[in-house]
Amino acid sequence: MNQLKTLVFLILMYVLISSCGHQQKINGYHFETRKEIEVRRGAVVSASPIASQVGVSILRQGGNAIDAAIATQLALAVVHPSAGNIGGGGFSIIHLKKGQNIAIDFREKAPGGASRDMYLDSNGNAQLNLSQNSPLAVGVPGSVAGIFASMKYAKLPFKKLIQPAIDLAENGFVLAQGEAESLNDIKEHLLKMNAVAPVYVKDSPWKTGDTLIQKDLANTLKRMRDYGAKGFYEGETGQLIAAQMKKDNGLITEEDLKNYQAKERSPIVFDYKGNTVVSMPLPSSGGIILEQMLKMSAMENLGKMNYGTLASVQLMSEVERRAFADRAKYLGDPDFVKVPVKTLVSDAYLKKRMSDYDPNKAGNSKDTKEGYIIEGEETTHFDVVDKDGNAVSVTTTLNGGFGSGIVVKGAGFLLNNEMDDFSAKPGVPNMFGAVGGEANAIAPNKRMLSSMTPTIVLKNNQPYIVVGTPGGTTIPTSVYQTIVDMVDFKMSPKQAVDSPKFHQQWLPDVIFVEKDFNKNTIEELKKMGYKISVRGSIGRTEVIEVKDKKIIAVADYRGDDGAVGY
Ligand code: DON
Repeated sequence: MNQLKTLVFLILMYVLISSCGHQQKINGYHFETRKEIEVRRGAVVSASPIASQVGVSILRQGGNAIDAAIATQLALAVVHPSAGNIGGGGFSIIHLKKGQNIAIDFREKAPGGASRDMYLDSNGNAQLNLSQNSPLAVGVPGSVAGIFASMKYAKLPFKKLIQPAIDLAENGFVLAQGEAESLNDIKEHLLKMNAVAPVYVKDSPWKTGDTLIQKDLANTLKRMRDYGAKGFYEGETGQLIAAQMKKDNGLITEEDLKNYQAKERSPIVFDYKGNTVVSMPLPSSGGIILEQMLKMSAMENLGKMNYGTLASVQLMSEVERRAFADRAKYLGDPDFVKVPVKTLVSDAYLKKRMSDYDPNKAGNSKDTKEGYIIEGEETTHFDVVDKDGNAVSVTTTLNGGFGSGIVVKGAGFLLNNEMDDFSAKPGVPNMFGAVGGEANAIAPNKRMLSSMTPTIVLKNNQPYIVVGTPGGTTIPTSVYQTIVDMVDFKMSPKQAVDSPKFHQQWLPDVIFVEKDFNKNTIEELKKMGYKISVRGSIGRTEVIEVKDKKIIAVADYRGDDGAVGY
């Protein structure tokens, strides 16, 4: 009888253990997409419900938010190939439960062989096809160095964090609708950029539910598992990248790869109406212009104006215009140019910037230039919070969708086209219409200016809002509007994510609005003299709100994005 009892006990234990194990093993073939969840312990929201699930499985295994962010980022490199990446770069903002705020810069760098006028033809005209769609568009990738830089704050071994990504690459996963469509859209470009068709190309169109298996990528990830950052920047992978560049007449060498380093920087930290905003410093423009925008609009009674009204949209557009004019003139890699950051965000300077603001008159970008200073459609964002009060906000990018379109032969991953974020020539707009000058001119080993704005808003030094989005130059304005929507207009995170966004970036002198933007407000703005351009969706904003011990995670309806928690 005792033996029977022991046997039943053992069988029960086996079933229990194996079912727990099963819960933690990520199955790329079964997932559920939820746009809003409310949980108590931890949550991840990202462009892919599979990647969010990977992050939460790490939290459940005792990992902290940083562990979960690393695993999510690696999974996104597999299941969201248009933007999740190991061949690109990005930025993380980390808040540690003990109160420390950290910014990790893993932005791509210009290769050592890059030069200021490398995209100009003999007549001095900028050749944007070279900065956007050519092997010369590729910056030295930073994502893998960024992941290893954040390992300093992780708890679990790297092996454990990368395994779900390896499994997803090796065993495959099913494509969501947006992912399938984007692979179809990029097919011709991928065929043009690669001598051998990469795994992302197949004869018949991709459909929702199709399987994508990436064996070469799985092997590249295994080399990272076994040899750390060197498994990417040196050895077989490093050689494959350099060989690809050499074959294509690109610039990146083994030396460039070996020398790449991620940097820990001091985040931009400022008060906004009793909350502490923590965001990304240079070489992203995001944190600085977010601070400028929030502080400029706080000079008026924004809360009273309400969302989407003539008054609030006009004020916020004028604020955005001024911030972007400064971006074009002053901002660039702080390791290369002196940027007057303190002045740009000072109350006195911003007050002067707003002195010609008139709520009854449309502004214009001819009269609004940068301030006077006396002084020397693919990226992806995800948020994580854990049960202990750690939070991570990460935006990472290949720049354009699928980056340069160049897949490293034998290594199975896409290289970025981030060089286009430099100013190819003063005044010539890049793919996001952003213009720049000397501060963002190309130089060997310099980081190109970014708009990515991973942000954590703290209340009483605890995470309150974790937010970010892709969207090129619309990133800082979407983050700005999301914070205003939640803090000033008292919206729920879901309302803030769902509500139509607008965008003014100095040049072109236009207010872009999403197509479901309030029609009356559009008419009123036009009457005032504003040029309005209705465009496709703006960003894929992911938000986690932590309030009264509840964690509300919201994934943007604008994409396949999904929130997971427990
Ligand atoms: O760093 C930047 O600002 C750009 N490379 C981001 C590109 C982007 O967000 C594209 N996404 N839709």
